[in-house]
Amino acid sequence: MAIDYQEKIPNNVDLSDNRRLQRALEAWQPKFVDWWRDAGPVDRQANEVYLRTAVSVDAKGWAQFGYVKTPDYRWGIFLNPREKDRKIAFGDYKGEDVWQEVPGEYRSPLRRLIVTQGDTEPASVEQQCRLGRTAPSLYDLRNLFQVNVEEGRHLWAMVYLLDAHFGRDGREEAEALLERRSGDPDKPRILGAFNEKTPDWLSFYMFTYFTDRDGKYQLASLAESAFDPLARTCRFMLTEEAHHMFVGETGVARVILRACELMNQHDTADIRPYGGIDLATLQKYVNFHFSVSLDLFGSEMSTNAANYFTMGLKGRFDETRRKDDHILKNATYPVTTLVGDDKIEIRQEQALLAINEALRDDYVADCQRGVDRWNQVMAKNGIDFKLVLPHRAFHRAIGEFANVPATPDGKVITEAEWDAHKDEWLPSEADHAYIQSLMQPVYEPGKYAGWIAPPKRGINNQPLDFEYVKL
Ligand SMILES: [Fe+2]
Ligand SMILES: [Fe+2]
Repeated sequence: MAIDYQEKIPNNVDLSDNRRLQRALEAWQPKFVDWWRDAGPVDRQANEVYLRTAVSVDAKGWAQFGYVKTPDYRWGIFLNPREKDRKIAFGDYKGEDVWQEVPGEYRSPLRRLIVTQGDTEPASVEQQCRLGRTAPSLYDLRNLFQVNVEEGRHLWAMVYLLDAHFGRDGREEAEALLERRSGDPDKPRILGAFNEKTPDWLSFYMFTYFTDRDGKYQLASLAESAFDPLARTCRFMLTEEAHHMFVGETGVARVILRACELMNQHDTADIRPYGGIDLATLQKYVNFHFSVSLDLFGSEMSTNAANYFTMGLKGRFDETRRKDDHILKNATYPVTTLVGDDKIEIRQEQALLAINEALRDDYVADCQRGVDRWNQVMAKNGIDFKLVLPHRAFHRAIGEFANVPATPDGKVITEAEWDAHKDEWLPSEADHAYIQSLMQPVYEPGKYAGWIAPPKRGINNQPLDFEYVKL
């Protein structure tokens, strides 16, 4: 039976006028739903969830709320409207008209960029698939599913580009995106952080704060692309990404607030006996999630990144607002470098080769702003404790500091010292077991688990005791 795509897949790409594209998506759609049923939220797919759906990109349409079962979610395809006379902002083609079609010579690097971005979207849904069993409240459960369906929509966004612009290769990549699985030894997801587990809700908040924020920076630099459909797709994805980071930032802030309350109540930092998450453990989670997210930006010095930039495929964060020549052939950039066995120095390197590092720096500064807001929660509650981001050399698997043992404050140490101290810096097995022990579902409307404070306000002006998920 023919599907009414205008109805089934809300879109602003005139899907109903493009038979070829429609056929490609029709063939892919049931496979996507199979993937969702197989790898998406465990146990909760028959429940109605109060979700936001985008039915257009304008202020009225991009956030429509209503109850829906997640497999019936209307995953739409939306590009921001075309900007009149948009010009390429950087690289060798700076000043020329942007491209509406993929130039033949850039097919393969562009496809690679789109597939790499696309692969992270379903990966995070897979990583989070069991969290629906143990949410600290219906409010949080609903936020989890909101993030999940939107990551699903982001996959749609990338698959649309593959189907619309990359012919048979694109269709094959679209299938492969549904075949890889997070953490699967035989067919893993492409990037390391997306093969890590998200085994508990503290990890979920950290992931949405730190790893979804990597997504923000990747999307923002792709939103500068000379390939206009990619740029416009990413711009719209960024509006959704903001909510994911909100879930992370407020989630961690609520854990901190609860910790402060328990510390004040019992006059001790050791709040585990009272069912709280102590701030020392939170710091270890920050260390872990920040460091694995730093790896997502790739090597400090990268000819691939330089080529993407020069070709106009991927820019920098806020490219158009930067006050330089946007070509960077004669510019330098400070890069933190390992010198000899154990010295860390900042060296001036060719800016073009250091594009990844520049994006990582923008990311770090953004992460720090949220950490500062978390620290205000402690300060306001009279608790003398500050969370800090670890040094970029700490616990890295990619680039200059890959597998270099280093302390969170950036001192290179021996393997033996690392082994002796790593449980002070990263969540230990005992920490994981403790956090896991707190993961008991609280599914009565208006009730919240004892290790996390309630949010300040509900979703879409609904009260805190609203039935966000009908169980
Ligand atoms: Fe996403
Ligand atoms: Fe996201």
